[in-house]
Amino acid sequence: MKTTLTERFGIEHPIFSAGMARVAQAELTAAVSNAGGMGCLGGVSFMPEALIAEIEKIDSLTDKPYAINLLLPVSLTTEDEEAWKPVRELWGRLSEDERGKMAGVEALLTKGAVADQVEIVLDTAPAAVSLTFAAPDWFMKECKKRGIATIALAGSLGKAKEYADAGVDFIVAQGTEAGGHTGYVTTMTLVPAVVDAVDVPVIAAGGIADGRGLASALSLGACGAWVGTRFIATPEAYGHDAFKQRVIDGRFQDTDITFSYSGKRMRAFSNEWTEQWASGGSDASFPAQYAVAGTRVETGYQDGDIAEGMMPVGLTLGLVHEMLPAGEVVRRMSAEAAQIIRGLHDRVL
Ligand SMILES: Cc1cc2nc3c(=O)[nH]c(=O)nc-3n(C[C@H](O)[C@H](O)[C@H](O)COP(=O)(O)O)c2cc1C
Repeated sequence: MKTTLTERFGIEHPIFSAGMARVAQAELTAAVSNAGGMGCLGGVSFMPEALIAEIEKIDSLTDKPYAINLLLPVSLTTEDEEAWKPVRELWGRLSEDERGKMAGVEALLTKGAVADQVEIVLDTAPAAVSLTFAAPDWFMKECKKRGIATIALAGSLGKAKEYADAGVDFIVAQGTEAGGHTGYVTTMTLVPAVVDAVDVPVIAAGGIADGRGLASALSLGACGAWVGTRFIATPEAYGHDAFKQRVIDGRFQDTDITFSYSGKRMRAFSNEWTEQWASGGSDASFPAQYAVAGTRVETGYQDGDIAEGMMPVGLTLGLVHEMLPAGEVVRRMSAEAAQIIRGLHDRVL
């Protein structure tokens, strides 16, 4: 397949694996890139030294292009003491044991760690950086200087326009079906609306798990697909087998919208933790809420405690029925989409 996406990066299939915090580490990133798609490292969950090691690992596993995801809202990049106060207070209340379990969110709760991530990523100069929540001007300039493509995730039309004005190279239009932080508009509606509104190539996300999803994305005007949940059920993804199995066995009604992970709107597995949160909660907001729920991330991913863990997941859990190597997911999705597109021509015209 040839689209703006494959042409820009010299890749075979117009498929990105999403930069999922914790889940998308070196193995998944490299496997997707080696299969001719484009892997994306979930960079936000690594403390600076671990991020360097993980990037070295990707480089030892592939010589193909890959991307790295970062979160750069002002609340994480500011040096302002006042802004960090609520985070510090919550962080200070954690026991040693609890801190040991904060691997996935530690960098977001440590003042200066995100700035270090930025420096490391700019020095690495991967083929692309994906951004969520914000595409700050200072960072865009540094990427342009180094020839790093910028990709930004938008869950609304307004956000997509903001990213277009900021000069990003690609916009991911992410529908509410998606796992992780998500908006209100469906993929089917948001993608064509963004395609019409901006003069930037659009990648579709949310609800895409197979060739039918990719073919639909291309029909809606996108130049490729950005896929998260489908890649959880792969041997290369990080996470306990119980978590992956839950994706395979899952039904649509097993996800919920919750603010219990980060303080922002997110689609995740509904379980005892999210229900307990819904009936009680706390008033912590982003990013301080990470210090409230942070230990629960590894409760899910490391310990496989499905009832008490905090695990983002999208509606495609209702479409994922088997564990497959990540490379196989990429190849099948692309081949099936090509077949559908050819078949539609014969069937409809
Ligand atoms: C487990 C998980 C973790 C995620 N973590 C991140 C993240 O750290 N940064 C980010 O930009 N998006 C994150 N996302 C959202 C994905 O980038 C992507 O938009 C979404 O998974 C696409 O929808 P899908 O799950 O239906 O394929 C995450 C999604 C999941 C399922």
